[in-house]
This record gives sequence, structure tokens and C-alpha cells, in this order.
Amino acid sequence: MGHVTDRDGERQAGAAGPVPAHVGIIMDGNGRWAAARGLPRLEGHRRGVEALRRTIRAAIELNIRFLTVYSFSTENWSRPAAEVDDLMFLLKRFIRNDLADLHRNDVRVKVIGMRDGLKPDIVGLLHEAEELTAGNRGLTLVVAFNYGGRQELASAVRRIAERVRAGLLDPEAVTVETIADHLDTAAIPDPDLIVRTSGEQRLSNFLMWQSAYSEFVFLPGHWPDFDRAALESALADFTTRERRFGGSQAEAALQVKTAL
Ligand code: IPE
Ligand code: IPE
Ligand code: MG
Repeated sequence: MGHVTDRDGERQAGAAGPVPAHVGIIMDGNGRWAAARGLPRLEGHRRGVEALRRTIRAAIELNIRFLTVYSFSTENWSRPAAEVDDLMFLLKRFIRNDLADLHRNDVRVKVIGMRDGLKPDIVGLLHEAEELTAGNRGLTLVVAFNYGGRQELASAVRRIAERVRAGLLDPEAVTVETIADHLDTAAIPDPDLIVRTSGEQRLSNFLMWQSAYSEFVFLPGHWPDFDRAALESALADFTTRERRFGGSQAEAALQVKTAL
């Protein structure tokens, strides 16, 4: 593990460690990959699914515990209907084709994001993927689908407010942990490393709350070209980072924590 999180959401500082426990990936650049080849955007998305397969395999081999992939944002609905349809179709096909294989490989699938607004067949498939693999102990594949960090936070606040209104929770008792526990990612550790392909250096509403102390690696290549070597280069970059979590120096902060 790259870090340990205590009950107050504080983390023990330390060297990044050889392998991050949780890697988040903003899979960007399918459209540019296709445009550069004179191909339709759909072809870029199709090849993006192949890159996802390679990446899941590599994550298993590299002993990453949690892999979160950003596959459709709450803002992606603003794309032309035909492209949205293509993306929905590819998600369905991915689950139908790959679920059995993921299950055989002991992968646990967890989906984060809003279910309302999704077609019933998609909701059914997402549910099936989670149910079938719930007991698996290998890689946890977190699929961020119809996901937005702000929407996730708003939904958490709504549910906390409901508990306050029902008299179950004192507003004074709302802590960082209360909020974390009401996010879709409750029980999933914060991402140690977030990788974004295609050169864009922004979060685009991905894991806003959870990325407070994540390390970021931005790669110039487009997502459909992503492979194990690209993942390994991001991991190699991660190992050179000094994570402090607000302390003055990683090693010193770790020693103080250990002595307490
Ligand atoms: C990422 O590629 C896939 C999704 C956002 C669904 P894009 O479709 O964003 O590709 P670019 O950024 O236009 O190149
Ligand atoms: C972020 O990429 C969403 C996904 C990768 C699913 P976008 O391509 O939608 O982000 P922007 O619009 O460039 O910020
Ligand atoms: Mg994009």
C-alpha cells in the first residue's frame, strides 16, 4: 500500500512505494486518435475498449489492487446523440463479452456514477456485473460510468441532509469521514495515482474529493494506444514522487507517526 488512511481522513506520509494500490485512469483521446487516421470517432472508441482490456490484464499482472477507469462522464451526454449511442453500445458489448472472463480472473467489478437516466438494459448489466463478481478477491475494477465528482458529492450531501432531517445525525457530527462514507467510493481507498492520456491536464469532474492527495501523471499518447508499457512508465514516474500529505518531509513525517 502506498499509504494508510486513518479514521479522520489523515494519511501517513511516506515514499510512494513500488506499486500504487489504487490507480485511476482518465481514458482520453479516442476521438483524436481516430481523427489522426481519418477514421470515425466510433473506431477510436472501439480501439479504446481494446486498450481497456490490455490495461486490466496489465493491472492484474502488476498486482494493482484497485483500478478506476473513467468511461463516461455526466457531461458526456452533451455529445451528439449518435456518439452517446455508440458509447452506450460499447459499454453493453464490453460487459456482455468480457464479464465471464473478468470473473474467471477473480476481478471484482464495482460501478460508480448515477444510475438514473440510464436505460434499463444498461442498469441491468451493471447490476449483473457487480452481483456476479461481488465475492472476488483479485483486482477491483471500478467503472466510473455516468459519473461526475460534483454530482457524487451533491448526492452524498442530500443523503446526509436526509439523515439530519430524520434526527439520525447531529450536524455537528458531520466529519470528513461522514462525507467519504456517503460517496459512491465508500470502502474504496483514495487513488494513489491518476493517469490521463492525450495530454490534457485536467480532472474533468473525475474523483474530485478522492484525488485530494493523488499523484498525477499526464501522458501525451492517445488512449487507444495505451498498453502495459505505458502503464509501467506511469508507475515508474509514481515511484519517484515524494508523498507528504501535508507533512514537512515524507520520511520524517512517517517516523513521527510510527513513534506515536
Ligand atoms: C475518451 O475519448 C472517451 C470518452 C470521453 C468517452 P474522447 O472521446 O474524449 O476523445 P477526444 O478527447 O475527443 O480525442
Ligand atoms: C473525460 O474526458 C471523460 C472521460 C474520459 C470519460 P472528456 O474528453 O469528456 O473531458 P474534457 O471535455 O476534455 O474535459
Ligand atoms: Mg476527450
